[in-house]
Amino acid sequence: MIVKAVFSVTALSGVLAGLLVIADKYLADYGECKIDINDGSKTLKVKGGSSLLSSLAREKIFLPSACGGRGTCGYCKCKVTDGVGPLLPTELPLLDEAEKAKQIRVGCQVKVKKDIKIVIPEELFYIKEFQAEVEKLEDLTYDIKLLRMKLLDPTEITFKAGQYAQLYTKPYGKVKDVVSRAYSMASPPSTKNYIDLMVRLVPEGICTTWVHQHLNVGEKVKVVAPVGDFYVREGEGEMIMVAGGSGMAPLASMLNDIAEHPVNRPITYFFGAVTKRDLFYLDEMRELEQRIPNFRFVPALSKPAPEDEWQGETGLITAPLENHLKGRDTSKVQAYMCGSPGMINACVNVLTKNGVDRKNIFFDPFA
Ligand SMILES: Cc1cc2nc3c(=O)[nH]c(=O)nc-3n(C[C@H](O)[C@H](O)[C@H](O)COP(=O)(O)OP(=O)(O)OC[C@H]3O[C@@H](n4cnc5c(N)ncnc54)[C@H](O)[C@@H]3O)c2cc1C
Ligand code: FES
Repeated sequence: MIVKAVFSVTALSGVLAGLLVIADKYLADYGECKIDINDGSKTLKVKGGSSLLSSLAREKIFLPSACGGRGTCGYCKCKVTDGVGPLLPTELPLLDEAEKAKQIRVGCQVKVKKDIKIVIPEELFYIKEFQAEVEKLEDLTYDIKLLRMKLLDPTEITFKAGQYAQLYTKPYGKVKDVVSRAYSMASPPSTKNYIDLMVRLVPEGICTTWVHQHLNVGEKVKVVAPVGDFYVREGEGEMIMVAGGSGMAPLASMLNDIAEHPVNRPITYFFGAVTKRDLFYLDEMRELEQRIPNFRFVPALSKPAPEDEWQGETGLITAPLENHLKGRDTSKVQAYMCGSPGMINACVNVLTKNGVDRKNIFFDPFA
């Protein structure tokens, strides 16, 4: 009896909460609201009711967003000094105490319902929306495609090697919504009129299924770029790079940029794959070894198949990384990593255990 009553109350609260969300979405009219940016340096007038992320995007100001507004990546955080209510339950997992104290909010979760004031870094004003055309779509491996997009409007991009682009999908099949996802730019900054991405198919993934199975050469697409703070920092010590799968993308961009603008530092790049069929860009890396003095590319297979006849490094990528670091002076080493969060965490442990300063470790987890 008690269980039944508790169940009924819970179900009723759920229905009421759902009705409130629907009423807020379709019936509430918040009229025109002002968004004051950086103490009056810019003021936008927007229709109230949408998230801060999408309200700004409609005005062509782009907060970083890797998850496309699903409230999972935390990239869209920004300081809101006035005009929003208390923290929402959906923001709490993404904010630490220091951020809460500094009035940081999650841009895709807070809604603009009255005049608000925000503070954002100046560099966000340089993120632009591009109309582009698919120029090339080719297999790098059985599950990674190279997507080349020629920029149509604007026709050129300026970015730092390592930064990413937000790619917007189109509705297909049963997927009716447009989503955006983050993809690191694989082309170097010198190729200003196109962007290369390396997209690994995630089973059931909305954007990667679209790219792999629905997108065609010649089609028009929308991208927002450049985004992110993953790029090569000044320094004198060795650069260690680690990647797996499509994590190759930003590192290929960085290495091609370094080949064009030499840095005079040793560079060692550890690339992890399972079997030989997961390896790609080997010729490109061998060519870069010729062009960049003191650059070494070290591919490692965790489970080489017998037919691979693999002579190179074996084991998880942490094994050759650890061997390389052991006994070295790592005080000036900088590390740049891209790939799965699991691989990155394991490598951060190996690097710090071997004396690399945590401040000198930079990464973009592809989550
Ligand atoms: C800064 C940044 C740069 C990135 N750069 C690249 C890149 O260069 N190339 C690239 O291929 N990807 C990259 N990613 C990942 C990319 O943004 C997407 O998350 C990924 O492609 C999945 O998108 P989707 O829409 O196909 O899957 P979704 O529809 O978002 O997800 C479908 C399901 O798969 C799970 N899932 C999501 N991502 C992964 C994953 N990577 N592996 C396993 N399961 C997953 C989700 O939890 C969900 O259950 C990057 C991510 C970030 C944050
Ligand atoms: S866009 Fe990912 S959490 Fe807001």
